[in-house]
Amino acid sequence: MKIFSIAAFGFFVVSITAVAAPAPKPPKSTPQLIEKGTAAYKANCEVCHGPAGDGMGPAGQALNPKPRNFTEPFKAGKKPEQVFKTISEGLPNTAMVGFAQIPEEDRWGLVYYVLSFDKAAAKKKK
Ligand code: HEC
Repeated sequence: MKIFSIAAFGFFVVSITAVAAPAPKPPKSTPQLIEKGTAAYKANCEVCHGPAGDGMGPAGQALNPKPRNFTEPFKAGKKPEQVFKTISEGLPNTAMVGFAQIPEEDRWGLVYYVLSFDKAAAKKKK
C-alpha cells in the first residue's frame, strides 16, 4: 500500500510538471528582442490590436470582447511571465487565441513590445 502511494505520488508530481510547467523565466529585454517582437506583432497581432496597440485594428472592431488596448489593465496580469502565458495559450472564450507556434524568443519579444505601449502612455501622463 505504501509503495503504491509513493508511486501514485510520483506519478502525480510528474503529471503536474507536465501540465502546469511554470512559465520559463523572462529573458532580459534587449533592443534585438524587441525588434523581433515588433516584426512578430506586425505579422500576427496588428490586425486586431492596431498599430498603436490601442485595440483599434480593423479585424478587431466586430469582436466581443474587443481586442485589448494595451494601455489598459490586463485580465491575466501584466508581469512579463503572465503576458507570455497569455500570448502562448490565449484567453478562453475570446478571439485571443494562443500563439504557441511563434518561436519562444519572438514571443518574449512580443511581451516586451506589448508592454512598451503602456510605458509610452505612462510617460505621456507625466
Ligand atoms: C483575432 C484578433 C486578435 C489577434 C490576431 C490577437 N489578439 Fe490579442 N486579444 C484579442 C482580444 C479580443 C482580446 C481581449 C480578450 C478579453 O477581453 O478577454 C485580446 C487580448 C490580448 C491581451 C490582453 C490579455 C489580458 O490579460 O487582458 C494581450 C496581451 C494580447 N491580446 C496580445 C496579443 C498578441 C501579442 C497578439 C499577436 C501574437 C495578439 N494578441 C493577437 C484579439 C486578438
